[in-house]
Amino acid sequence: MNPHVPDSDGSYLYYDGDYPWPADLAADASLHASAARQGILHDVAHYAGLTQELAGLLGRGPRVLEMACGTGRLSIPMARVGAMVTGVDASAVMLAGLARRLRQEGAEVAARVVAVQGDLLDLDLPDKRHDLVVMGFNILMLIADFDSQIMALERARDHLGPDGVLALDVVNPLVMPLGATPAPEVSYTRVNPHTGNIYTKFALVGTLDDRQVQHNHGWYDEVMPDGTIRRAYYHFDWRPLFRYELELMLKLTGFGIVRVDGDFQGSPFDAGSGKIVVVARRL
Ligand SMILES: C[S@@+](CC[C@H](N)C(=O)[O-])C[C@H]1O[C@@H](n2cnc3c(N)ncnc32)[C@H](O)[C@@H]1O
Repeated sequence: MNPHVPDSDGSYLYYDGDYPWPADLAADASLHASAARQGILHDVAHYAGLTQELAGLLGRGPRVLEMACGTGRLSIPMARVGAMVTGVDASAVMLAGLARRLRQEGAEVAARVVAVQGDLLDLDLPDKRHDLVVMGFNILMLIADFDSQIMALERARDHLGPDGVLALDVVNPLVMPLGATPAPEVSYTRVNPHTGNIYTKFALVGTLDDRQVQHNHGWYDEVMPDGTIRRAYYHFDWRPLFRYELELMLKLTGFGIVRVDGDFQGSPFDAGSGKIVVVARRL
């Protein structure tokens, strides 16, 4: 999930199994508890809702830039409600997943999504007047370095038109385990949607270090049809951000805070909130 992590990493190979889309969640209630823990039970509705709100205000489909769009879990639902979406991601395998998903959409929706491969820290698109930039599902944390996080916010600002909106979410570090896990933990056992085989995910996190960075690693064990186990390792770093640190970074990079919520349904942020959900406006 960081640009230096190779495309063969388990976190890419099992992404669509790990992070179900709304239709998968609607079809299988057994996924809800882990989706709630991951903070993805209501995020798609939130970002699609913001897109619709903007469409109402603008009287047209908003121009949206999704930074780190992955396989399109947020980009495609935003396009379905009328947005013209540019999705940027560093990973070729994630963008191949997006292309596969777009082939399953109607031509009208597919035509509204443009994918760009690249590091969002180097982003310099011809269109600098987006109406909305989305950095959903913890992307700012996955830029695992303070200066680079600032740079990512600057790139977001540089691609917004006057009064453009930035929407992002990160995990609230006040509810995260910031010390190392003593032993691997089983996240869940579920079906790999690409193969139909069962897999189990094992996870470990390191201690938050002096740069406020945490190493995440573990592995996936998939049971193959012949009974053998195929193991794929994963690893990535993230840098959790505290609420007021994030607000300060936004102010430093030219944003005014519109809202800081504790979830995707508009609950006020407090120490026990699972998420920090921010809407800001380019000043
Ligand atoms: C957790 S996934 C999120 C994907 C999608 N936004 C979603 O909500 O499902 C993280 C994505 O960030 C991408 N990514 C991480 N760092 C990046 C960077 N510096 N530039 C571009 N993409 C990056 C990874 O390739 C991966 O696809």
